[in-house]
Amino acid sequence: MIIEPKTRGFICLTAHPKGCEQNVLKQIEYIKSKPTTNGPKKVLVIGASTGFGLASRITSAYGSNASTIGVFFEKPPKEGRPASPGWYNSAAFENQAHKDGLYAKSINGDAFSNEIKDQTLKLIKEDLGEIDMLVYSLASPVRTHPNTGKRYKSVLKPIGDTFTNNTVDFHTGEVKEISIEPCSGDDIDNTIAVMGGEDWQMWIDLLKSENVLSKDFKTVAYSYIGPSLTEAVYRKGTIGRAKDDLEATAFKITESLKDINGKGYVSVNKALVTQASSAIPVIPLYISLLYKVMKEKGIHEGCIEQIERLFNERLYAEDLQLDEQGRIRVDDWEMRDDVQAKVLELWQEATTETLPTIGDLEGYKIDFFNLFGFDVEGVDYDKDVDEMVVIPGLQ
Ligand code: NAI
Ligand code: NA
Repeated sequence: MIIEPKTRGFICLTAHPKGCEQNVLKQIEYIKSKPTTNGPKKVLVIGASTGFGLASRITSAYGSNASTIGVFFEKPPKEGRPASPGWYNSAAFENQAHKDGLYAKSINGDAFSNEIKDQTLKLIKEDLGEIDMLVYSLASPVRTHPNTGKRYKSVLKPIGDTFTNNTVDFHTGEVKEISIEPCSGDDIDNTIAVMGGEDWQMWIDLLKSENVLSKDFKTVAYSYIGPSLTEAVYRKGTIGRAKDDLEATAFKITESLKDINGKGYVSVNKALVTQASSAIPVIPLYISLLYKVMKEKGIHEGCIEQIERLFNERLYAEDLQLDEQGRIRVDDWEMRDDVQAKVLELWQEATTETLPTIGDLEGYKIDFFNLFGFDVEGVDYDKDVDEMVVIPGLQ
């Protein structure tokens, strides 16, 4: 079929297999040029199909020849209806990995559930024996608790006061003020239940109790801090409470892995266009200004550059360069004083009229469409493609 982008609000309902494949191959090429010394060998990635998780899988496989198991929740294709992008990404990754003689298998389903955890455990036992690294890169709006069956929904809201600031509709370029009402009821607890650390800890507890974590095992989950501009809706909002919980979980995990010298870390990553971040108000305007400033300074990175730096200059390097709260920081360039001062200055000037010049709205849009395999260089979108792509190592 001929596949075109079909957007609705912050999401795109279609994805292009060839564009997704190109994106994956580009990331693989990048990592092949930057091998990881003493990198991981047997890696489980939860949330492996897009964004930071996919980049982590590629960095493991192509940086240090790691065998990878990827867990994700993606929509398979149907005749005449394309799959979700993570499906095509995973197919492209596995096809290439298998060609290159790398072990790569995947599990598609709800990582929060006991069934998927058990299935993953079984696969580790059968194929790898143990793992030396687990990357936890889930981004989900909902979680059904495996033990109680209760369904939690996360919200992206400020705590206490209504937050009013500018945002941009990146499709139309319109900059306008929005107000977000503060959270209420169980919003904070619900958001913690979805995006906090409980599920990460559950994975570790299960795999530890079944003796499939190697000596010196490492695990990392991803967090975000960001500037004061977005603080009310992000770090000091409901999602920030979940990130506090996730960060605290890293220490609990390290504590629980003492006997195998295992370590749990949180890496604070840079703001990037992903499916998860496009849905957060105010962030798209911030990102379009940030991209402009970081590109001008020659320090812009995407997911793959971020994760390559995380592995090569932090996780598998001499010095993790932890901050005073024990976190790894690869948001260091985003948070540089000169970068933040410039973004703040531009923020005051940003209007529908000025944004195309003072911000990188174009870069935002391209990155957004790239997520779904559109606007990718070297892809002929007028050509018929087979939407019924198979992930070769899918269990
Ligand atoms: P993403 O939306 O690109 O990736 C989410 C992944 O989780 C996908 O592989 C998806 O299939 C999987 N997933 C979602 N629900 C699932 C479920 N129930 N079971 C199994 N898999 C499921 O998101 P992104 O942006 O890569 O986020 C990953 C982590 O990085 C999140 O913790 C996020 O908060 C964090 N982060 C994101 C930043 C950004 O600007 N995008 C910045 C810093 C941290
Ligand atoms: Na991810």
